[in-house]
Amino acid sequence: MSLLSQSLGRYREPQKFMEMGVYPYFRAIESDQDTVVKINGKDVLMFGSNSYLGLTNHPKLKEAAIDAIKKYGTGCAGSRFLNGTLDIHLQLEEALAKLVGKEAALVYATGFTANSGTVSCVTGREDYLIFDEFNHASIMEGKRLSFSKQLKYKHNDMDDLERVLSRCEPDKVKFIVADGVFSMEGDVVKLPEMIALAKKYNASIMIDEAHSLGVFGKTGAGVCEHFAATNDVDIIMGTFSKSLGTIGGFIAADNNIINYLKHNSRTLIFSASITPASTGCVLAALEVMAEETWRKDALWANTERAKQGFLQAGFEIGPTASPIIPLYVRDNEKTFKLTRILMDEGLFINPVVSPAVRSEDTLIRYSLMATHTPSQIDESIEKITIAAKTLGII
Ligand SMILES: Cc1ncc(COP(=O)(O)O)c(C=O)c1O
Repeated sequence: MSLLSQSLGRYREPQKFMEMGVYPYFRAIESDQDTVVKINGKDVLMFGSNSYLGLTNHPKLKEAAIDAIKKYGTGCAGSRFLNGTLDIHLQLEEALAKLVGKEAALVYATGFTANSGTVSCVTGREDYLIFDEFNHASIMEGKRLSFSKQLKYKHNDMDDLERVLSRCEPDKVKFIVADGVFSMEGDVVKLPEMIALAKKYNASIMIDEAHSLGVFGKTGAGVCEHFAATNDVDIIMGTFSKSLGTIGGFIAADNNIINYLKHNSRTLIFSASITPASTGCVLAALEVMAEETWRKDALWANTERAKQGFLQAGFEIGPTASPIIPLYVRDNEKTFKLTRILMDEGLFINPVVSPAVRSEDTLIRYSLMATHTPSQIDESIEKITIAAKTLGII
């Protein structure tokens, strides 16, 4: 056995939970991603999906993906920079820039690479990269690769952000990056306060709209639209892997920023472009989002119903203000056990343990789709409540 394999073989953390029969990862789904999925031949209610608008199974999206494959083939065989740009990539960028209200947009193969390839390169050695401690891993990845001076502020704490900003040299670039909706906790960035600070200290802002696109704002453009803050935010990032039914990501900004990224963002230049199928699919998803506005309304009605239900049942749900409802367990082992009991009861929920959150903050992450029915939501609340009582969580 190689030294590498021996060394990695000492990592047995997952095996502990496998032996206990509560290992909750890589559960294979045998059906489409919808409010009910099939696992081991059994129907399971899905409350762990990021398909907020319920579009992954929409006939128009499927048809658009198939049409794109028919016309352009299955892949682009190269990066956007060289041979991998299609006319539909450019059409999509135009549509995305229009949606979020920026001069231009740039499409990446995933949201992860959009974030990591942007955060890593837009600021230089003399500049400041300022970030919320709970930002998504893809932003943190970009931060790790950046040569800038890096300053962390406490989660969504604008006093702490001001403390950090006040320490920076006034004439250097100060770049604040934050999730619009925090992916595990479901709370919303305090954008108006952040913008006031950015103006006071001459800083720039990037907002990750991964969980807010399709969910917040009149047209579903996200939290920047919701707060009427688009012009005060320099860079808007979004992903296609949540509300838009497929995979891929984008950055929208002014022409200067997009021009810089097109020629310097390594995850764009040195990675193959998003597939024709996904590109066609997102173009269709944007149309459906504009046409079927009932989806956003239904999502929010579902969110309200579930929040009230969990609060009445006595769950601690924190300051969530989105369709992501964290049900705090605050114990790694109980979180895994609860997830397992719920799977046995026919409910799919995601456990969130360290390092995704601090070990004292473990939770199960309940997320809603526009297409959940009230009775599915009520059934899930009842089952989760019974299981949580059994484990002494509530
Ligand atoms: C806040 C946030 N940003 C970025 C990403 C990455 O997006 P993608 O799944 O498209 O790579 C995610 C997905 O997990 C996310 O939750």
